[in-house]
Formats: sequence, structure tokens, C-alpha cells
Amino acid sequence: MQSTLHLAEWGGILRPGANLAAMAATEKELRLRDSQVAQRKDADAAATRPGDPANAIECRGVTKRYDTSKAGLSGTTFSIRRGEFVFLVGPTGSGKSTLMRLLIKELEPDQGRVLVAGRDLGELTHKQLPFYRRNLGVVFQDFKLLPDRTVYENVAYALQVTGSSRADIREKVPDILRLTGLATKLHHYPDQLSGGEQQRVSIARAFVNAPPLLLADEPTGNLDPETSIGIMQLLYRINRTGTTVLVATHDSAMVDRMRRRVLELAEGVIVRDELDGQYAPTDMTTAEFGALLREPSPEPQRVPKKREPGDDFDEAFRD
Ligand SMILES: Nc1ncnc2c1ncn2[C@@H]1O[C@H](COP(=O)(O)OP(=O)(O)O)[C@@H](O)[C@H]1O
Ligand SMILES: [Mg+2]
Repeated sequence: MQSTLHLAEWGGILRPGANLAAMAATEKELRLRDSQVAQRKDADAAATRPGDPANAIECRGVTKRYDTSKAGLSGTTFSIRRGEFVFLVGPTGSGKSTLMRLLIKELEPDQGRVLVAGRDLGELTHKQLPFYRRNLGVVFQDFKLLPDRTVYENVAYALQVTGSSRADIREKVPDILRLTGLATKLHHYPDQLSGGEQQRVSIARAFVNAPPLLLADEPTGNLDPETSIGIMQLLYRINRTGTTVLVATHDSAMVDRMRRRVLELAEGVIVRDELDGQYAPTDMTTAEFGALLREPSPEPQRVPKKREPGDDFDEAFRD
């Protein structure tokens, strides 16, 4: 068992060659990367075994009970390969947040094992925990922005706490804010932003360290459908840099349109696991992906809303 965990080592295992520059990559570069990811997925599928670092996330018989009557999760087993974009769906109370909190290691399982990049989180020492968490980007429904700091300061803070130099911060913060469509909002405070903008700040903050794994727990829970599409496009764009993305949501209509892998929980048990391989095109542009999300949903029809400038990212990413 490892005595130390280095950021570069974890990043390397989960996402070789990843960096923030990938967020600004051209469509051609992204297509090349997509084909590499697809090849690696095939190799991973052939070689996968318990504890395999080819798995970004692996849960083996994970049970978490809050008290004698209520199980957060019961005997959950699944794995997510590096570079996948996976939805975790299920009604309120089905265990989605419990799973997220186990992955952040805010909770410990009562039974079973949770592995990230092939390493058992149960074996991480207290001292190693902050190093582990630096490899995670985490996004919540309620944004969790610091209200008395500007957009710029909120994002810069994420770099300060991990010991980045001032030069590094000056370089990375404007970059990520531009790529998330917030270039004109640097000096705004959170209460001067719309919900969608606040969520984009929280995604910028989660991604500014270029983590190999991004966890989003109901990121569109407080947003209207059109704004939600922009947020999903942004998460998809992040996935296309090579980051593994797990999104918990109860918006199953949107998930069905996205044609990605879906893990469904019901009362703490995985009741559906639709693998992406059969039907998810991996080389869609961000704009095509947005169009897919805007396809009219089956009953009930979505009420069309006037699109605000900046609602989506087709423009920001210049595919
Ligand atoms: N801190 C807690 N204390 C007691 N029970 C909890 C706690 N957190 C969650 N639960 C229970 O565990 C189950 C799963 O909750 P949760 O993981 O939050 O589901 P979801 O995120 O899918 O809504 C629910 O029955 C919930 O009431
Ligand atoms: Mg929840």
C-alpha cells in the first residue's frame, strides 16, 4: 500500500496528459482525444478486474446505513471506467448523495469497498485525505459559493488552498472563467448573478485544478430547463477534456435525451445500468450535444423559454 499520494500520480492514472489547456482545445484535437478514449475504453473493458486502476470508480458490495431502519445504500456494486460520463438517477431518497459522499470520503461504508483509480478509500489515512480530495472536482445543487467574495476570488480561492503560486492563479483563473462564459462577470458577487451563472462559477472552481474526476450532485436542481442544458453542455465539455464525470440528477427526461450511461438507484439498490457503448456517439461537438438536449421531449412537452445570451456554450467553446 502506498504511503504517499501525489497529485500528478493520481491525475496520471485517471487521466493521462490532462491539463487545463484541453478545455481550450480545438474540435479537431478533441476528436483525436475522443478516439483515443474510445480505444482505451475497449482495452479497459477487456482487462477490467477488481482494483484495476483502469476503473476511475469502483464500488463493491457497498452498504451504508444511517440507522437501523433506513439504508442509504445496500450492497451496491458497479464500476466506471476512466473518461466516462455517467448519470446517477433515482428519486429523492434513493441514495445518490450518499454515494457521492462516500466518494468524497465524507462518509465511510458499513460494508464493502469504494475504490478510486484502483485504490481503496478505506486505506487512505487522515493525512492523505486532502491530497486525495485535490483530485476531485465537486459541484452541488446549491453552488456553495462564498457570498462575500467576487467570482474571481471564489475561483482563485480553490487554487490558493491547494498552494498554487500567485502567478499560477493569475494565469488560470481568467482562463477558466472565459471558458465557462463568465469573462464579463469577474468582479460580480454571487448575489449579482443568475442561478445558471452561479452554477458556472462553481463548476469553474471545481475544474480550475483540472481534476481527473468531477462529481456533480444535482447540479441543475435549482435551474430552469434551458439553463440546465447549458450546465450539462459545460459538464460534457469538461468530460471531453478526459475528466471522468459522474452527475447525480432526478431529471430523468434530460438524461434520456443525453444518451449516456445511466445508473439508476431505487431505495439504495442499483436497478438499472445502461452502458453507453451501444448508443452514445462520443464525438459529438458541444453544439451538437446541446441540440440533442433541446430535442423535443416525449410527453409532457417542455414549455419553450426565451433563450438568454450566455445560456449555452456553443459560442464560448467555438467548436
Ligand atoms: N444524515 C442522514 N441521517 C439519516 N438518514 C439519512 C441521512 N442522509 C440521508 N439519509 C437517508 O438515506 C436515504 C438516501 O438519502 P440520499 O443519499 O440523500 O438520497 P438522494 O440523494 O438520492 O435523495 C434516504 O432515506 C435519506 O432519508
Ligand atoms: Mg441528494
